[in-house]
Amino acid sequence: MIDGKVAVAVVGCGGMGGGHAVAISTGSGQALWMTDGSKGRELAPGDTDLKTKMVLAGTYDVKEERQEWARNQGFHTYDSFEQILEDPQVDVVLVATPNDSHKDLSIRAMQAGKNVLCEKPVMMNSKDLEDVLEVAKETGKVFYPRQNRRWDKDYLIMKKLYEEKTLGDIFHIESRYHGSRGIPGDWRGVKAQGGGMMFDWGVHLLDRLVMMIPEKIKTVYAKMTHVTNDEVDDGFIMQMTFESGLTATVEVGTCNFITLPHWYLCGTKGTAEIKDFRDPGHMVILRSWEDKDATPILMGEGLSKTMAPRNEDTMDDLPLPDITYDRNQLYSNVCDVVQGKAEQIVKNEEALRILRLMEAALESDAKGVAVQFE
Ligand SMILES: NC(=O)c1ccc[n+]([C@@H]2O[C@H](COP(=O)([O-])OP(=O)(O)OC[C@H]3O[C@@H](n4cnc5c(N)ncnc54)[C@H](O)[C@@H]3O)[C@@H](O)[C@H]2O)c1
Repeated sequence: MIDGKVAVAVVGCGGMGGGHAVAISTGSGQALWMTDGSKGRELAPGDTDLKTKMVLAGTYDVKEERQEWARNQGFHTYDSFEQILEDPQVDVVLVATPNDSHKDLSIRAMQAGKNVLCEKPVMMNSKDLEDVLEVAKETGKVFYPRQNRRWDKDYLIMKKLYEEKTLGDIFHIESRYHGSRGIPGDWRGVKAQGGGMMFDWGVHLLDRLVMMIPEKIKTVYAKMTHVTNDEVDDGFIMQMTFESGLTATVEVGTCNFITLPHWYLCGTKGTAEIKDFRDPGHMVILRSWEDKDATPILMGEGLSKTMAPRNEDTMDDLPLPDITYDRNQLYSNVCDVVQGKAEQIVKNEEALRILRLMEAALESDAKGVAVQFE
């Protein structure tokens, strides 16, 4: 502890680790103060001011240029990972290195008496996470998966629509990210380091989806794409069928110059859509199924009544509900958990389920068939 606050040391001070260092040291929780020196967003109503709970003890990176970057920001830098482990003030080691090093660093940190906040995907496979959780049990230390996109506002709004049945009963959900830059040319293109878009983005999209739908997943069918990269997947399309019959499509693409919506939620009374990060989204809600207003129209070279667009006066086109919440709840919860004041919001069993779900997707892709999941 430092001044009564939870002290965090970041190992791996690259894009994300540097972001954590900024987020914690400014107290804003926003990882935006990057190479151009800009300091990121202010705290919003509802956000925990992290300065009241946690403090950055320092950072360590194997690359000297990242050590220098950290020093230039005014952060304390450790000379080695061992030096972090030897620092009695450090409560939490935040692991933000490439995926293949998470296991070793997490185990060593817990065995040295430190709690661990580990970046996603926490491990390379579910067996590795089981091993790590065994060490957490033996040492009595906290292992906390950083599955942070459960706090994305677009997701929380969709979850609210789902839970409140605003669109009636949801029968199909699409969740996707489409980019057009290929995959980054770093370790994300290296299989042995846990590269590929299933590990990078799939983990987020799947985590959000299964937290929204509290049901067993019956079947999984997935096709990984290799448009711009042979070694690892540069995207995927995954279909899931839940116990109730609800279906979901989860998709990541990195060669999409025209993008499909981030969210597409289909209910028995309405449909909602959010196109991208800048789009506030909207929903269209039917006034009554009795009001069919069907007039055949010419579509292409044929007539159709079924596919004719509805008259606008039979439905309402509405903005999505706004929500206020604590964007820093994950960091805040980590502080509370290591002090024994709260349960983990992101549970290890949830992280394990996501790793198993990703494994089911890879199995489906390899075999070319749908696989049974739960
Ligand atoms: N949760 C999120 O939203 C989010 C976003 C981006 C990245 N991540 C995750 O964060 C992790 C890091 O990703 P990144 O984008 O910052 O990668 P990066 O390549 O930008 O940074 C990784 C850094 O770790 C350093 N490093 C490697 N091995 C090390 C070791 N043994 N000890 C100390 N430093 C070491 C590298 O030199 C590099 O600077 C990955 O697991 C990634 O999936 C999470």
